[in-house]
Amino acid sequence: MVTKIVLTEDEMPRQWYNIQADLPSPLDPPLGPDGKPIGPEMLAPVFPMNLIEQEVSSRRWIDIPEPILEKLAIWRPSPLYRAHAFEKLLGCPVKIYYKNEGVSPAGSHKPNTAVPQAYYNKVFGIKRLTTETGAGQWGSALSMAGAMFGLEIKVYMVRISFDQKPFRKLMMQVWGANCIASPSAETSFGRSVLEKTPDTPGSLGIAISEAIEDAVQREDTRYSLGSVLNHVMLHQSIIGLEAKKQMEKAGDYPDVIIGCAGGGSNFAGIAFPFVLDKINGKEIDIVPVEPAACPTMTRGPYAYDHGDTAGMTPLLPMHTLGHEFVPAPIHAGGLRYHGMAPLVSKLVQEKLLRPVSLHQNECYKAALDWARTEGFISAPETSHALAAVVVEAQKAKEEGKEKTILFNWSGHGLMDLTGYDNFLSGRLEDVDFTDDQLKEGLKAIKGLPKPTGA
Ligand SMILES: Cc1ncc(COP(=O)(O)O)c(C=O)c1O
Repeated sequence: MVTKIVLTEDEMPRQWYNIQADLPSPLDPPLGPDGKPIGPEMLAPVFPMNLIEQEVSSRRWIDIPEPILEKLAIWRPSPLYRAHAFEKLLGCPVKIYYKNEGVSPAGSHKPNTAVPQAYYNKVFGIKRLTTETGAGQWGSALSMAGAMFGLEIKVYMVRISFDQKPFRKLMMQVWGANCIASPSAETSFGRSVLEKTPDTPGSLGIAISEAIEDAVQREDTRYSLGSVLNHVMLHQSIIGLEAKKQMEKAGDYPDVIIGCAGGGSNFAGIAFPFVLDKINGKEIDIVPVEPAACPTMTRGPYAYDHGDTAGMTPLLPMHTLGHEFVPAPIHAGGLRYHGMAPLVSKLVQEKLLRPVSLHQNECYKAALDWARTEGFISAPETSHALAAVVVEAQKAKEEGKEKTILFNWSGHGLMDLTGYDNFLSGRLEDVDFTDDQLKEGLKAIKGLPKPTGA
């Protein structure tokens, strides 16, 4: 009975996969404040040109530079596991495989893009990076990558997560970074939010605005985003490329692929190389999972919207709940984002993906069952993928079908135990998203241009 399917370092992919080359129709372009498509040069104060080139590239395969491969090899290729004990507990006719991205030093898939982003900024001559973090996983990942390539890192951490997860801040400090709570008094946008709503739990949208405001004020500084953008999806494709080789070694192929989705990057990472097979005719059910309290894909329209709350980013074509929406303070801080990656949104529009949403109690229940069978303690974000695996396994049983499920175990929850504490003591609340919240949120995008097919 095989539990772990591993690849040697020689078998690690040497190129990333860019799904922009294979979309049924091209992505609508980002738009500037005048509603016109923006050129790469308009992004230059925010990102280095080598990453902007990747952002707009439609080349199918992009070489991974050697210095990046050397760092990725510290934890990659990541193991693919078969979840024998969890399968047994569920008692459904399913084989469950999971890619363990929690083996990275920072504890999630986020270093897969933190390392390339730090590298490309370094070779472009940048000295300092700013960023936001929700759960703290991304802030930790970039802090580690910054230390590896000698960059100064400043992290704006969403207030509610900052309070729930003090050890994440300490991890960032160990890697030499500076982490402060957002909204902060250090930016004019942060001060304006604090003035209006001093008790706000914060949001990823607000933290992104602060990090961009900070970055554009200094010539030696750029901004780094942990999800949403095309180049981030590209860097994460290494997960799915490895998983494909590993499934082949196992002599299997997935019927269902599942990943949780905040900005879309760990989901895209595992799914996009298989979406290519689906475009080419394979039958696969590909499921991004989001929280019921922040149901971007299942309730939000496909529209042009800003990636941040202050409206500093270009308009992106994506599923959105409106850039001023502040999601309820659920424990999955990394899933509290009003928008969704344009590439994931586009594939939802093309009906190549089937998004679902779930409440947090159901997710913690699955995470507890998982910990007591497979051993690993899941991040609250990851628990959404787990709960969806349970739903799909039970569906297979009802349908009397045998299925192979592959999912992305995006990170461990060893720094997220407060959520488990609340669940175990019955204090955890399920939060619904109401029609009124949707109506209010969408006021922020009224009158903006509409992408093709919206
Ligand atoms: C463990 C983990 N999984 C998933 C996510 C969601 O982000 P994304 O959708 O970009 O993968 C996060 C974000 O912080 C995370 O920390």
